[in-house]
Amino acid sequence: MWRIVFRFINFYFTADTRYTVHSPFVFDFVKNVLEDTRLFYAYHSIETHRKFLLKNHKKIEVTDLGAGSKYSKQKQRSLRQIAKSALSSPRFCRILFKLCHHYQAQRILEMGTSLGISAAYLHSADTRARLITMEGCPNIAEEAKKLFKTLKLKKIEIRVGDFEKSLEEALQSLGSADLIFFDGNHRKAPTLAYFEKAMKYAHESSIFIFDDIYWSEEMMETWEQLKQDQRVRLSIDLFDMGLLFFRSEFKEKQHFKLVPWWWKPWRMGFIS
Ligand SMILES: C[S@@+](CC[C@H](N)C(=O)[O-])C[C@H]1O[C@@H](n2cnc3c(N)ncnc32)[C@H](O)[C@@H]1O
Repeated sequence: MWRIVFRFINFYFTADTRYTVHSPFVFDFVKNVLEDTRLFYAYHSIETHRKFLLKNHKKIEVTDLGAGSKYSKQKQRSLRQIAKSALSSPRFCRILFKLCHHYQAQRILEMGTSLGISAAYLHSADTRARLITMEGCPNIAEEAKKLFKTLKLKKIEIRVGDFEKSLEEALQSLGSADLIFFDGNHRKAPTLAYFEKAMKYAHESSIFIFDDIYWSEEMMETWEQLKQDQRVRLSIDLFDMGLLFFRSEFKEKQHFKLVPWWWKPWRMGFIS
């Protein structure tokens, strides 16, 4: 617990705001994604369902193919426990929505569906876009399917199985990927292997999003290694997620840590 607090403090003091970035692309990202506070209609209905999940004591048998939960190693877990520990936060999910919305992602892949909350956000930004989401645990996937049905998100395609097998198939089916959310197996070797596979389907404007980049020493190392990959032209660290961009318009490779301006109001220049 304390480790993550220290990591956050270190991140916070080294992070930029829109007032200290010079890249037009990054400024646009901060303005239209990170700091866009509009409340879209979809947020409310998805969050209502998250609340139901947080109160649901129904137990299911869980098959864990990833690094698992730091807090529970039980086989039988309630939906409430899963919702509390595995799902991305509302702030995080809103950023996913805004990324899809602002960059008009049409071919989206999610690795790690869990109960379907982040997939619902990814899809709600544009329900005409194609979204494939992958989950290894069949019982969890069943619960996600129920959520998609309730939210009337009929077009979400859920693939059940180990990423080892399902990733290549899903990527082939998409043809190329505009946005990939890596939120499954929080270990170094598999994450780097998934990245390599995914890169074959990436293009100029693809966006890769990695969850929990400060979750463990191993994930911090993984993030550093991903940033150093020569195909990566820009990285953005938001603490709870890391984003990679591959656009050749970025002549010099750049790395940013970013927070919204209201986290550091003195950076506006009124107070120095
Ligand atoms: C952190 S949860 C995903 C949370 C979800 N994206 C959200 O924010 O609502 C990760 C999920 O990935 C699944 N997973 C982990 N490793 C996997 C693997 N190797 N193959 C398939 N699924 C895997 C787990 O079963 C778990 O449900």
